[in-house]
Amino acid sequence: MPPVNRFHLAIPFNRPFATGAEFGYIREAIDGLQLSGNGRFARQCSAWLQEQTGAGAALLTPSCTAALELAALLAEIGPGDEVIMPSFTFSSTATAFALRGATPVFVDIRPDTLNIDEEAVAPAVTDRTRAIVPIHYAGVPAELDSLAATARAAGAVLIEDAAHALGSTYRGRPVGGDGELAALSFHETKNLTCGEGGALLINNPTLVERAEIMQEKGTDRARLFRGEVDKYTWVDIGSSFLLSEISAAFLWAQFESADEILRRRFEIWDAYHAALAPLEEAGLLRRPVVPAHCTHSAHLYYLLLPDEAARDSLIECLRAESIAAIFHYLPLHSSRAGKLYGRSHGALSVTDDVSGRLVRLPLWVGMGSAEIERVVQAVETALG
Ligand SMILES: Cc1ncc(COP(=O)(O)O)c(C=O)c1O
Repeated sequence: MPPVNRFHLAIPFNRPFATGAEFGYIREAIDGLQLSGNGRFARQCSAWLQEQTGAGAALLTPSCTAALELAALLAEIGPGDEVIMPSFTFSSTATAFALRGATPVFVDIRPDTLNIDEEAVAPAVTDRTRAIVPIHYAGVPAELDSLAATARAAGAVLIEDAAHALGSTYRGRPVGGDGELAALSFHETKNLTCGEGGALLINNPTLVERAEIMQEKGTDRARLFRGEVDKYTWVDIGSSFLLSEISAAFLWAQFESADEILRRRFEIWDAYHAALAPLEEAGLLRRPVVPAHCTHSAHLYYLLLPDEAARDSLIECLRAESIAAIFHYLPLHSSRAGKLYGRSHGALSVTDDVSGRLVRLPLWVGMGSAEIERVVQAVETALG
């Protein structure tokens, strides 16, 4: 298939949404004379994230990738350690731990939610297992109760890659509160965005002080800001895991409109789900599954086609209608770096099967009912 610039089609896959308040807040940040990290807007954003997720602390980071890297440092993951995760995920889930010299151990996913198969995790545990890292695919939570129990039994840290799942709940609990650590993304494709951005949620109180130090290049600068010391110095290892105040100001505008943004995303998700039900009943595709004990974040709407040829043909038909629909993760266990740095445990047959059959439909705030109808009709025509 020739490459396509998916942003320039009549109905792009994603169109980042700005509320209109972003410019004013960026101006305020400039006038406030602090553009580096952990300024006023960053503190407001952190407090909002704590309120939404119940997390003990929330540190803004330059990306979800950076938040995962900070999590790996905090969990003291090192050479020889093993970290269990799904293969059906983004490279960042694995590379954050491979960077520390650890081995990502890939296990299969569930056929319904496409999340890590919690039953496959315990058999993959060894005496080197140090962390278990589920993702919440499409914002549908993984089986957190079972994963937390397995992590406890293994003496491993549960680190949630919650890049898709801000606002989702598992058995009534906000996602991001179960793991000792959880990483969020504010990349332009995410529900709430500042272009590139992320956050680390910290639920283990003993890790908060060290996290603040590691975020600030290994210094105790956070204590200086709080007036606890009169100068700051290098006290530990760390890096620059800070989000610029310009990005935090942008993000604050998005947080203020989070309810409205989520409401509009759900309208589109629900419209797709209702309109495509007859095609599922006819056996032509499968729609996303959201277990009754979970709520999701309307982060993305995907379809599973009967096979790879049907999926590729659907993408082609939609492209001919100027609609951008795209596949998702190529399994990490069969990627070049995955083979070099990781290993698989057990058969990854669901992962291999699903990744070849999955397609994501356009979903962005600003899509009107005419556009949704056009996408649905194009899918109907392609499969009809
Ligand atoms: C599951 C998952 N984790 C991490 C990331 C990386 O997020 P970021 O671009 O904020 O680093 C992504 C990107 O989409 C993702 O899908």
